[in-house]
Amino acid sequence: MNHRCYLRFFLLALLCLNQQTFAQVVNLTPWPLEMTQEQGQFVLPQRFPIKIKGLDENARNEVLRFATELNQTTGIKASLSQRKAVMTITRAQTAMDDEGYRLTIHPKGINIEVTTTTGLFYALQSIKKMLPGNVAAGVSQPGQTYALPLVNILDAPRFHYRGFMLDVSRHFFTTDEIKKFLRLMATYKMNYFHWHLTDDQGWRVEIKKYPKLTSVGSIRNNSWNTDINKGSYYTNKPYGPYFYTQEEIRDIVAYAAQLHITVVPEIEMPGHLAAAMASYPEYSCNPNGKHNVWVDGGISTDVLNVANPKAVEFAKDILTELAPLFPGEMFHVGGDETPTTAWEHNAECQALYKAEGMTSYSQLQSRFTKEIAQHLKTLGKRIVVWNEAITAKGADTQLVKESEATVFSWNPCQRGARMAAELGLKVVVSNWGKDGCYYINRRANSKDFGAGTGGDNLQLMYDYLPVPANTPSELQPYFYGVQGTFWCEHVSEPEHLEHLALPRLMGIAEAGWTPQNRKDFSHFVNRMKEDRTYLRLAGFRYHPQYLDYDGPEPPTKK
Ligand code: ACM
Repeated sequence: MNHRCYLRFFLLALLCLNQQTFAQVVNLTPWPLEMTQEQGQFVLPQRFPIKIKGLDENARNEVLRFATELNQTTGIKASLSQRKAVMTITRAQTAMDDEGYRLTIHPKGINIEVTTTTGLFYALQSIKKMLPGNVAAGVSQPGQTYALPLVNILDAPRFHYRGFMLDVSRHFFTTDEIKKFLRLMATYKMNYFHWHLTDDQGWRVEIKKYPKLTSVGSIRNNSWNTDINKGSYYTNKPYGPYFYTQEEIRDIVAYAAQLHITVVPEIEMPGHLAAAMASYPEYSCNPNGKHNVWVDGGISTDVLNVANPKAVEFAKDILTELAPLFPGEMFHVGGDETPTTAWEHNAECQALYKAEGMTSYSQLQSRFTKEIAQHLKTLGKRIVVWNEAITAKGADTQLVKESEATVFSWNPCQRGARMAAELGLKVVVSNWGKDGCYYINRRANSKDFGAGTGGDNLQLMYDYLPVPANTPSELQPYFYGVQGTFWCEHVSEPEHLEHLALPRLMGIAEAGWTPQNRKDFSHFVNRMKEDRTYLRLAGFRYHPQYLDYDGPEPPTKK
């Protein structure tokens, strides 16, 4: 090698070395509120003492869980220490969002400042997320180097509610499958799991006072199932009994709580109730008629007889029994797609309609919603409804306003959200349709099987503005959050659920956390590509569009 060659070799080596130490990729989704990065990295030492000051027992337990996980995944011996530490956690001295944190990583260690255990949890989630993917996936890979980028992060969410809804009525998912999703939600700082437990096609929660809800209502005599590769078909076999016992509900709620996720149950009423009416026809508008747990999708007219005090009592009893299982305040009672035809033909409903001087049968629903809201209030809960409660033709919006309902707006999403905000009601945005779909069960492209036309792709969803640009500033505080909603009429297997939901769910996590002006689609896609390791190790499929797929065989349409 001559001198020039030596020089070139030396410069190249220097460049490589420099690239290794400079600007380690910050793989953080959702992208933080504020962040600066410096040259270099912090290599985690084998012994990893952590000091925590000025925070309570819960915070200490949070750190102990983190230390155990770090040890299991990396082999690094993390423990609490009173003396010198590589990670110091203190109470923030300045005002900070309850879910926020300040995280400083310098060449010799880590400082965290928080005001709550949830803020601490998110700081620790960020640390895990910036390490190699096996750490967030909870998979042991000792013996490799674990390093963090040198960052100074001040973080807090844009919205309080960052949710995922799963419909377990049309198809049932086991508690293990739900826990797997809860872990993923926590990785991306999502904090509400909306559990759609009942619908026309199956009642999926044990109610001790009304055992037929599950002995009858959790079984349908045929099923429209879907194979991720071959599409949908009738099984021509009964589907069920599938439901969660109250013990299983408690287990999921407790598991979610450890991940700082609140479970919002949804018990649909007064519509989407065919499974319940098949179990207890006496509470329907036609007690002597035929009532079935539905096999196909659609909207059943078999609704609750809201003019029958015993039927209303039945609805209240169910809520009374379930309320203590869910420590969160929000209780969703559906209220979407409620046809009034059965009420129009029922003598009791006609009489009530007349007696109350109503001008539309939808007002029977408004009246019922207010009564249920009052009942939920006595149980320490706040009512949540879909937007039809205010957007249905003829609905009495004043009664819903008096119910102090939180409105989940899906269709028409923007009009429903605006109406709710104008009524002074909180809004969660989960838009259906072609303008940036948060219904993440819909086909992302033409190769998918499922609902929709195949145009609901990741970018469309990512670029959607949950708060439309023309929203007056005084209405903006009513926008409480965003939700990825997953319906299962055409999805019966966990792998299909994952394929359609991911990574769109992470896009919604980012919409919920990151300020609009910090969002960038190509940056997001690059981070999702980085996350393929995490997803593969955590056992998730994901949609191949935009990501060069490296998981299990991607589905192909045959
Ligand atoms: C809904 O999609 N029916 C809320």
